[in-house]
Amino acid sequence: MSSTQKDRILIIDFGSQVTQLIARRVRESGVYCEIYPSNMTTYDRIQAFCPKGVILSGGPASVHELSTPRAPGEIFASGIPVLGICYGEQLLVSQMGGRVESSSHREFGRAAVNILRPCDLFDGFWKVGGSYEVWMSHGDKIIEIPENFEVKATSENSPFAVIADESRKLYGVQFHPEVVHTPDGHRLLINFIRTICNCKGHWAMSSFKTELIEKIRDQVQGGHVICGLSGGVDSSVAAVLLNEAIGSQLTCVFVDNGLMRINESKDVVSLFRDHFNIPLVHRDASESFLAALDQVEEPEEKRKKIGKLFIEIFEEEALKIDNVKFLAQGTLYPDIIESVSFKGGPSVTIKSHHNVGGLPEKMQLSLVEPLKELFKDEVRLLGRKLGIPETFITRHPFPGPGLAIRIPGGVSREKLEILRHADSIYLEEIDKAGLYEDIWQAFAVLLPVKAVGVMGDARTYDFACALRAVTSTDGMTADFFHFNHSFLSRTANRIINEVKGINRVVYDITSKPPGTIEWE
Ligand code: XMP
Repeated sequence: MSSTQKDRILIIDFGSQVTQLIARRVRESGVYCEIYPSNMTTYDRIQAFCPKGVILSGGPASVHELSTPRAPGEIFASGIPVLGICYGEQLLVSQMGGRVESSSHREFGRAAVNILRPCDLFDGFWKVGGSYEVWMSHGDKIIEIPENFEVKATSENSPFAVIADESRKLYGVQFHPEVVHTPDGHRLLINFIRTICNCKGHWAMSSFKTELIEKIRDQVQGGHVICGLSGGVDSSVAAVLLNEAIGSQLTCVFVDNGLMRINESKDVVSLFRDHFNIPLVHRDASESFLAALDQVEEPEEKRKKIGKLFIEIFEEEALKIDNVKFLAQGTLYPDIIESVSFKGGPSVTIKSHHNVGGLPEKMQLSLVEPLKELFKDEVRLLGRKLGIPETFITRHPFPGPGLAIRIPGGVSREKLEILRHADSIYLEEIDKAGLYEDIWQAFAVLLPVKAVGVMGDARTYDFACALRAVTSTDGMTADFFHFNHSFLSRTANRIINEVKGINRVVYDITSKPPGTIEWE
């Protein structure tokens, strides 16, 4: 284990929608961490990871149902500090001999905790006798805490809002310190990580970059790697990192699937060939992708077909290069977490992101995924360290399946042309308004709906187009962007006037959850 990763925290995921936020908070405090799904976490795996502390996440289950997930009991006696959050606290209580009951009173949203006794967890910011804002989300209720535990704070509906056995370094909080609605939550987590677990906080991107490069060299040895470029930030950063790690052992393959935005292919080719001087195969496979998508309407089927074809083409290209053993991809941590669904396990599969879910079972190449432990903003930071131009780094994310998942229903060349044009006008207006960097992602969606309109004196019967723009920090949750009405009407007017085939524009005001960012 490398020096900056010696201080590491393990998060055991019991299926909370916000588990990744715990990981983000831990990393923001300069400490490396990973999330393990609860149903695959044995005590042996925990020991092999060597954490200096364990955090048990929240989750939707109820601890007094028999089949609901548990933490390996040995950790509570191991001397490793444990922090249980929400369901994690209830688990800690029930596995250590306390009692948890269902409650008719769900406590959801803002609440206040009242501090009864000092505690290492809130040392330095919450004072005894004070009352502080937190965010709760739970149904079950603790009614008796295990021996040697002390109540440190209560709330109106949670008599055991914070509990601790400080001699054994076991802590439980009923609220969610990882969300921004608990204003002091990050300080509480820092106290746990730094003071209680004694982590130093040396984990930083520059040292991590060196570690990633060493890891790549270790894995690849003398083999040759092909790296699939999509035009997005992730695969670009992966490719430049690989170039730094293994230089001439890398060939990038850019498959033009015909599902790209305007100028995308040109930009990618010029960045890699001209700016970085990285060998690049540019393969135009748009015909094959369109053929594979013919008559396909179901979103998961589209994703799988596109993913499969990508891999097949990579494999074909690989055969043309000597000694290719590896395929590199810009898979991120959220891609892995959102795509994996274990039976009875925490997170349900929302979508199979092509770079994980669509791999054929019998693949010829081994995978190199150097970014698979990073969140999106960490990838951007790494990209800057690698000298990738800012225009590339700040580009909005673009999904692997491209415009195909922005055309609900059947995809055709004609629809792609219409969408590309509308999308480019929309982004041009966003740029002109100076809003590009305030928005996480903005794009147009061509709806499978035709509407009647009147232009000049003629009747039109054309497609409706939805505009989407969201703010987000990591793509896991998102809010719609609040444009002013004059921006929306100006953009809609331009699209309707300039794009043949669209006569109606709507703005999507759905957040994630309950929506997702893409429409498919
Ligand atoms: P959703 O639509 O799931 O998207 O809320 C979250 C973020 O992920 C991007 N996305 C993908 N990226 N391959 C990718 O590389 C994919 O298959 C894929 N699907 C969605 C999406 O654009 C958003 O930024």
